[in-house]
Amino acid sequence: MTGAFDTVLVVDFGAQYSQLIARRVRECQVYSEIVPATVTAAEIASRRPAGVILSGGPASVHVEGAPGLDPAVYSLGVPILGICYGAQLIAEQLGGSVGPNRRGEYGRAEMTATGDGGVLLAGLPSPLPVWMSHFDAIAEPPPGAIVTAATAASPVAAFENPDRGLYGVQFHPEVEHTPQGREMMERFLRRACGAELSWSMHSIIESAVASVRDQIGDGRAICGLSGGVDSAVAAALVHTAVGDRLTCVLVDTGLLRHREADEVEEAFGRHFGADLVRIDAANEFFAALEGVTEPEAKRKAVGEQFIRAFERARSRIPDAGFLVQGTLYPDVIESGATTHSSTIKSHHNVGGLPENLDFELVEPLRSLFKDEVRSVGAELGLPPEIVNRQPFPGPGLAVRIIGEVTPEAARTLRHADAIVREELRRAGLEQEIWQSFAVLPDIRTVGVMGDERTYGRPVVIRAVTSSDAMTADWARLPHEVLEAMSSRVIAEVDGVNRVAYDITSKPPATIEWE
Ligand code: XMP
Repeated sequence: MTGAFDTVLVVDFGAQYSQLIARRVRECQVYSEIVPATVTAAEIASRRPAGVILSGGPASVHVEGAPGLDPAVYSLGVPILGICYGAQLIAEQLGGSVGPNRRGEYGRAEMTATGDGGVLLAGLPSPLPVWMSHFDAIAEPPPGAIVTAATAASPVAAFENPDRGLYGVQFHPEVEHTPQGREMMERFLRRACGAELSWSMHSIIESAVASVRDQIGDGRAICGLSGGVDSAVAAALVHTAVGDRLTCVLVDTGLLRHREADEVEEAFGRHFGADLVRIDAANEFFAALEGVTEPEAKRKAVGEQFIRAFERARSRIPDAGFLVQGTLYPDVIESGATTHSSTIKSHHNVGGLPENLDFELVEPLRSLFKDEVRSVGAELGLPPEIVNRQPFPGPGLAVRIIGEVTPEAARTLRHADAIVREELRRAGLEQEIWQSFAVLPDIRTVGVMGDERTYGRPVVIRAVTSSDAMTADWARLPHEVLEAMSSRVIAEVDGVNRVAYDITSKPPATIEWE
């Protein structure tokens, strides 16, 4: 879908910020992709990029085995911006020099322009706060380049040689702590690369729709809707492309959140007029989960039932040759896949489909970040309840009910969970929280209601902040919000007489309880 856009390639030297650089470039409306440090000049040339950005990296350019760039890249005539390690690499490989700094430079630094500041910095305030994170520092830029800025610890904080299309910055323009960073990136893209700023929501959709049409031709596709954002947006895009030659399959497992299946059915059936097969399989799921208490055994049981339900749906659409998946760009980067892979990841949001399903995959979100996916969804008219939805695990409530998963436990948890999420929304905090939900532990607790002794179950509230689910912190929810959740859960959910708040980060805990 991306051939139509000017592209900037981000060469990843192991930086924690590579993805952020690519996202920033896209925010400037230029399409950007990440490529590994081993990329060759020929591979880069074949992509005909408007520019190349060399990321930072944890290594010192002097360490044995430190990643380098194929030197032929410097002769391609493609403008290059080096950031931190990337800038040091340009200096080192093109005849400048890099030395260890006396003390390194970490965090905020004041940077002063030298001369007129060049293409990247001319006319910006000076001094200027920038974010630094390096030990080595550039001592001399490559011959022909001029130094355009310095800090107390970095005599060469920025250099450039516009005639050769070479730009280097020791600081990180991609992080928020460099307030003018976006302006500098935009100058590189616009002035140095002459890139067309065409990566807009409208053009993303247009191009995705065209490539889906191309791939599916006059075939028929099927898409499992999990209730999550990714599968919903993927389905909406494919529906825009091929209309009723897409059939959406919604499996109601009995383990979804309150009104989740209905909302998805309303959005797709009513709003889009999409062909939707709803399989109500709650009884089968609960039967399979009877007596199962071990978390991985639950996942397996749910996964198996999911496949059965999906196959039931599929038998009604025998000529479907394509399976739509909501794979996102970070999944592609993490799996190290550079070409379209044909296997289906077991953790995928439809709940883990087997690898031998005889489909060709359609992955219209493969080059998009999560925030872009949400924008595409909103642009296509999906309702905010779906577009802004928090992530939800494939096995659903089964991994939030500790012990045996019964219909009654699912009812109790679903009700408590709905209250937790509703109060969070009412407090206007839904967007700040990565995930917030209720958990039903397998214990009993004594309480007193009116004059009566009660012996019921506790509910645990879990709310975390995170940017990628790899690490998470417990959310410092206002006490009034927690109080509202607690009193409503006790008053409204039968059988619950105590509410606790989970104050564990990840690690050492995980986000889910199982
Ligand atoms: P943990 O609990 O490992 O969760 O910190 C990280 C993220 O993954 C989600 N999660 C799952 N998603 N199938 C899924 O599709 C699963 O079995 C599963 N387990 C956890 C979890 O909700 C969080 O967003």
